[in-house]
Amino acid sequence: MRCCYNCMNQSDLKWPEWPHYGKEEEEAVKRVILSNQLFADKEVRKFEEEFAAYIGVRYALGLGNATQGLHLALAALNIGIGDEVLVTSYSWISTASCILMQNAIPVFCDIENESLGLDPKEIERKVSPRTKVIILTHMFGYPARILDIVELAKKYSLPIIEDASHAHGASINGKKIGGFGEIGVFSLHQRKSLSVGDGGILVTNNKEINDKIYRLRSFGDQELSYNYRMTEFAGALAQEGLKKLDLQNKIRKNNADLLSGLLKRNKNLNVRTPCKDEDGVFYAVLIEIKNNILNLDEKLTSLQKIGIPIRKTWTPLHYHAHFNPSIVPARGCPWLHPSYNGQMQGITKYSDIQLPVVQSYCPDRILELYIHPPVDENLIKQAADCINSVLKIMD
Ligand SMILES: Cc1ncc(COP(=O)(O)O)c(C=O)c1O
Repeated sequence: MRCCYNCMNQSDLKWPEWPHYGKEEEEAVKRVILSNQLFADKEVRKFEEEFAAYIGVRYALGLGNATQGLHLALAALNIGIGDEVLVTSYSWISTASCILMQNAIPVFCDIENESLGLDPKEIERKVSPRTKVIILTHMFGYPARILDIVELAKKYSLPIIEDASHAHGASINGKKIGGFGEIGVFSLHQRKSLSVGDGGILVTNNKEINDKIYRLRSFGDQELSYNYRMTEFAGALAQEGLKKLDLQNKIRKNNADLLSGLLKRNKNLNVRTPCKDEDGVFYAVLIEIKNNILNLDEKLTSLQKIGIPIRKTWTPLHYHAHFNPSIVPARGCPWLHPSYNGQMQGITKYSDIQLPVVQSYCPDRILELYIHPPVDENLIKQAADCINSVLKIMD
């Protein structure tokens, strides 16, 4: 270890790769190969049972990825042309592109300051007779204001889809994230805290929804349905990941707490903490930039060069090309379709919408740093030292 940032060379810090597969995962994959059964079967079923028990819900369905889960969630709720879906603008593209997949209308909502999740007040402002669902995301494992949102959803009789792709194991007052809405969807993509390469799992307490998604997932014979199955490899790997999840989440939290303390003296930065009574899981730790930092991009690049994977998070979704297309999707759905005479008719751009909070944070004022194990105290201390040196006061 060097004494300070100034003494460090390119790639001095060896930030561990995530995920870290070992003997147990090797055995799990071998078990699948030896079984000669590679598409969804008993490994997937076992993981589904274990995951449902872990989240505290009645049903879980393994899928190819979370994008498929979000799509199936809307299909199962019978969302289609002319329906409006309230959705946060701060998320990964799938959280809102699934709405277009059903030819429905995304109505982008702003985020609120503390959780960076969907602002409950936006529901009151944007709900209309066409609104059929609310989709929210628990960003980077920091729970959104789900309790308030559940109350509003009840008031307007709207189901909630929780995109819990970053929040495996997060909870509020002991109740696991993913189990608050009608449907919860988790990504098991390689980068996620529960990681199988590509995979997803959907949870619900509603038998009717579960049965419908079960049919839609794999060539149901009564209605339009898909092939969105999880593989046995993913099912077997996910069982191993689930065994380790709580311990790994604890390490992430310790790393986040340590970093928070070490960056306290830096007046430019604020390590974000989950809201009161909420247990976040720090899929990544979020660092807010409080003051304007000159040449931020160059400074981030210099931190990355010495091995610290710190970067800006995402641009708001209402600026994304999927919602401002140069090529309007088939037959103009949902933008130009005659059966829809709401706010999107004739509009091909969302980028004019004003969502002041998300626009003030993203993409420039929120940084993410992955702190998955085996990142440890030693690495966090070195990283904090470098971050404090590079993103320092007076810039
Ligand atoms: C918040 C969120 N939702 C959905 C997804 C889509 O997940 P998948 O890659 O499993 O389809 C991601 C992936 O990064 C995500 O971050």
